[in-house]
Amino acid sequence: MWYTLMQKNYKVMELLIQPDGTRIDAVGKVHHVHRIPVGIPVIDDIPDCTAMNHWWHRRSIPASRSGVAQALRTLNLKVPQELLTKCLGLSLSDQYWVKPGGMDMTWEEVNFFDHDFSEDIGNILFGNKPDSESLDMMSPDSTVNGWLRKKWKIIHGKRCLIKGGANFFQEPFNEVIASKMAERLEISHTEYRLAYEGKNHMPVSVCEDFITRDSELITAGEISRVLPMEANEDKFGHFIRCCEFLKIPDYRRSLDEMLVLDYLIANQDRHMGNFGAVRNADTLKYISLTPVFDCGTSLRYDTPTVYIEPDLNVESQPFRSFHDEQIQLVHHPERFDLNKLDGIEDEIQELFSNDKARAYIDGQRVRKMIEVILTRIQMLKERFSK
Ligand SMILES: Nc1ncnc2c1ncn2[C@@H]1O[C@H](COP(=O)(O)OP(=O)(O)O)[C@@H](O)[C@H]1O
Ligand SMILES: [Mg+2]
Repeated sequence: MWYTLMQKNYKVMELLIQPDGTRIDAVGKVHHVHRIPVGIPVIDDIPDCTAMNHWWHRRSIPASRSGVAQALRTLNLKVPQELLTKCLGLSLSDQYWVKPGGMDMTWEEVNFFDHDFSEDIGNILFGNKPDSESLDMMSPDSTVNGWLRKKWKIIHGKRCLIKGGANFFQEPFNEVIASKMAERLEISHTEYRLAYEGKNHMPVSVCEDFITRDSELITAGEISRVLPMEANEDKFGHFIRCCEFLKIPDYRRSLDEMLVLDYLIANQDRHMGNFGAVRNADTLKYISLTPVFDCGTSLRYDTPTVYIEPDLNVESQPFRSFHDEQIQLVHHPERFDLNKLDGIEDEIQELFSNDKARAYIDGQRVRKMIEVILTRIQMLKERFSK
């Protein structure tokens, strides 16, 4: 079936998509070359179909998402990509969508920034049984990636992403701790708070959408595909050159902020989809790199408490394999007043002072998490004073 790939009300290109929505089989007429998704190879104004297909798949819930197999059974679907066309590919992280051929509809009529959306998919992804037989598939939950259970919810008129935890259920707490540390260090970040869901009071993190109806998120992976890597370049040098090329304001400062925070919390999963840039969806001009988000995979989140070594040189991403090397990429260490973190342990203790939190993270683990942070603050102070 033919669809028009749209960005807001701009026509981008015609796409032949399998009837079940799972594959792009062909690219047809291109309407706006400069609105082709960032990083897709284009030859003679025609985007590469295989790359477009990968782009389409990255838009979907990954098959590896926690709890997805059960959700697919409930929805009677084989793969999560079948959900994509059912919500017109609309997202709360960018402004792309697909308009079925021959249909007359505007972005204003369908987008999730202005319109309420169903929570059916999100609830099913969180393992809840649907309320009724007839499910409403118009949901931005079908176009958000990542491994953890998650759903969008409108809270007091704001679009908020709710994310669960895995293993030790530590991820939501880590998001909040990272927010508190970023706040003190004046690092541009997405604010996360804690909430508890369902009868087992499962901890979840809640953050507001940092994308608006006028902006969109371009991932670091997409950014890095705008220029080929040169033989004498490493991943960091190449990424910097791509940021220069796209004229992303203040990117070096934002990278410093992310690297410092990731070092302090020992983040192990800052892959090229876990940061990026924000651009204006109309002018396509870049506004900044993203505020830091997705810090859950840190503070030795998947290590049993007794095996947590606070001073371990933890594995890092995306530019170097270990934090001790990656932190050396910080350009202006003098910008960070680490003394502003004095007393952070009290704030963290406070977070775990209630029974709901303690049901998931016991006192011994809390002490270990604090020890990791305090040790790493000290390690960074020593490093930056050299
Ligand atoms: N606050 C936000 N505003 C807009 N988009 C977001 C926000 N948080 C996450 N996203 C989008 O959702 C994706 C998945 O969220 P993420 O926090 O990375 O989940 P996970 O921990 O499962 O990887 C991100 O890669 C990003 O595209
Ligand atoms: Mg992520």
